[in-house]
Amino acid sequence: MKISKSMQDAISAQINAEFQSAYMYLGMAASLEEQNFPGMASWMKKQAEEEIAHGMKFFDFVFSRQGNISLPGLKQAKTGWKSPLEVFEAAYSHEQKVTRLINGLHDLAQKEKDHATRAFLQWYIQEQVEEEQHANDIVEKIKMIGKSVSGLLYLDKELGKRMAE
Ligand code: FEO
Repeated sequence: MKISKSMQDAISAQINAEFQSAYMYLGMAASLEEQNFPGMASWMKKQAEEEIAHGMKFFDFVFSRQGNISLPGLKQAKTGWKSPLEVFEAAYSHEQKVTRLINGLHDLAQKEKDHATRAFLQWYIQEQVEEEQHANDIVEKIKMIGKSVSGLLYLDKELGKRMAE
């Protein structure tokens, strides 16, 4: 069944949000590179790639339902984040915001009795649990490390091992 105009427009807005997320994570990666945390920067670059993949998955879904999308512009991404803690706390709160957006899409699909979109969104609902958990775990680790340089360097090395999922 062809996707409704309202559902298609809501997904277009979500595609924009996913690309905006990628851009935000790229700005965070730039700040972490600048602060000499190459492992954390690499983690953020992988995160940016994931966000693009999230956007593309929505893109393909809309066209598989005979819809179309619009692509409004992206906002400038913040650079000059002050510390790994500031970065990962912002990432965690951003992912909570994205979860609310995904839930909003699901609410709309439910309202419209759009079963295909509801089923499709299950993957994102699950993914958001992981996205929040990963960011929050890192925030907690950084808080435990406190001001220990060796602790931060160890975490940097660990985060650098993240592979693209
Ligand atoms: Fe696309 Fe980080 O959620």
